[in-house]
Amino acid sequence: MKDILIMGIESSCDETSISIVKNGREVLSNCINSQIKIHEEYGGVVPEIASRCHTEVINRIMKESLKTANVCLNDIDAIAVTQGPGLVGALLVGVSYAKGLSYVTKKPLVAVNHIEGHIAGNYLTHKDLKPPFICLIISGGHTHLVNVKSYNDFEILGKTRDDAVGEAFDKVARVVGLGYPGGPKVDNLAKEGEPNIKLPITHFDNLDFSFSGIKTAVINLNHKTPNINKADLCASFQLAVTTMLESNVRKAIKEYHSDKIVIAGGVSRNSFIRKSFDDLAKDLNIKVYYPEPILCTDNAAMIAASGYYNYINGERAKLNLNAIPNLKIGE
Ligand code: KG4
Ligand code: ZN
Repeated sequence: MKDILIMGIESSCDETSISIVKNGREVLSNCINSQIKIHEEYGGVVPEIASRCHTEVINRIMKESLKTANVCLNDIDAIAVTQGPGLVGALLVGVSYAKGLSYVTKKPLVAVNHIEGHIAGNYLTHKDLKPPFICLIISGGHTHLVNVKSYNDFEILGKTRDDAVGEAFDKVARVVGLGYPGGPKVDNLAKEGEPNIKLPITHFDNLDFSFSGIKTAVINLNHKTPNINKADLCASFQLAVTTMLESNVRKAIKEYHSDKIVIAGGVSRNSFIRKSFDDLAKDLNIKVYYPEPILCTDNAAMIAASGYYNYINGERAKLNLNAIPNLKIGE
């Protein structure tokens, strides 16, 4: 069978990324221009600046991606682009660029949901992984527990009712004085501390999550106790967050008689969360999967992988494709 090459384009937040992926599983290139250094001084992503930066670098990243993969535009079978969710201005840069490229090259255009892309990041790391499985997506903007029934069929089992996990990590890092992006900094500082501070845990009858309570508790504690041990606070925060994530995953695994749990999204880089889910998998006698670190945070290889499964499913986007900032998974 002929190989299928998909070009993935990602610009939903502060990473401009273009990748070439073979048969949905093999990364030939995954070029990423991160804007972290630019947004750092503002303590978070400034949407207008993000859009401008995407516009400035996107064509260079495309050329770099083709060169790294050692292919030319003519070799590509389809162009897959993140349609949403994300920042509207940032998304529009990728969508407009992809439409232009599709028009000029006459290559089919495929729309990709960013959250489905995060799930697909695991297909690139684990060649043997196939649906069905339960997936926990933990990123800066999303916290979802999803029943992945097939490559194109997703059922949301639970989601956050307020903040996403990554958002809570970033906020905690900011109040503790660690700066942006907070997740990796909290992860590192927590290694020097003990989880000896009691923080509120929120549970619901269904598989939803809530992280605004714990976020506020950390902010208040930090405010009221100036000499609080920040490493202990970070370790306690991570433990409480992980307890909430694990509780719902245990329920979902039991309810759906699943023999595996797949974790995805930027926060799945967290060392404490990985260790905890390794232990949970041993305890439940199931397998646990995470993408390799570079495929956890935003990148276009995961968009190309997801786009491949949309493409072979016959999905095609028209040239009037628009960005949808609040696109839901499965839509
Ligand atoms: O998936 P992602 O790149 O963007 C979204 O789609 O939202 O995730 C970014 C999030 C940020 O909140 C960042 O702080 C968090 O992932 N993150 C981490 C770690 N590395 C990245 N959070 C906890 N521990 C980490 N090691
Ligand atoms: Zn993401």
